[in-house]
Amino acid sequence: MTFAVLCVSDRCSARLCEDKSGPLISELVASCGKTKEYIIVPDEKKEIEKTLIYLCDDVRADVIFTTGGTGFAPRDITPEATRAVIEREAPGIAEGIRQKSMEITPKAMLSRAISGIRKNSLIINLPGSPKAVKESLEFVLPVLPHAVEVLSGNTLNCGGNYGKGGD
Ligand code: MTE
Repeated sequence: MTFAVLCVSDRCSARLCEDKSGPLISELVASCGKTKEYIIVPDEKKEIEKTLIYLCDDVRADVIFTTGGTGFAPRDITPEATRAVIEREAPGIAEGIRQKSMEITPKAMLSRAISGIRKNSLIINLPGSPKAVKESLEFVLPVLPHAVEVLSGNTLNCGGNYGKGGD
């Protein structure tokens, strides 16, 4: 699998603080594949959209993780920018992350994160804090190889394909 990481943060993009979550994502997914791009942008809808389109259409990463900008703060706009570029929603991923995270903290219900597909890329919004990134990724990571396989058109290993070569 190939990955891309997009940190959405006014402060990190202005170099007022260091992004810890983006590098953590690359580290946590390293055993599953290579992170091809890591980009930091401010909480500007158009800039997030433009970068997501670049990561899907030009870099062609299998999975693109965003981190940050999913909450209630006035400038949090990552879910809206993601929704503007995806062609199909993948609500189960965002729902699963939120459900699992709420077992850890009720504050997880404040995440407005979404997930969706553009061309052959899956975009997954993650929250901004390293703690939340780790908790969310640990849950979703095991499903990604199958998600990417099906996204590329190979449905042989889907559960419904018993007797047709799948498991
Ligand atoms: N999810 C997990 N697993 N663990 C957390 O600590 N924090 C929440 C939530 N999701 C949290 C979590 C909090 S406090 C907020 S405000 C939202 O994610 C949105 O985070 P963001 O604005 O950094 O994207």
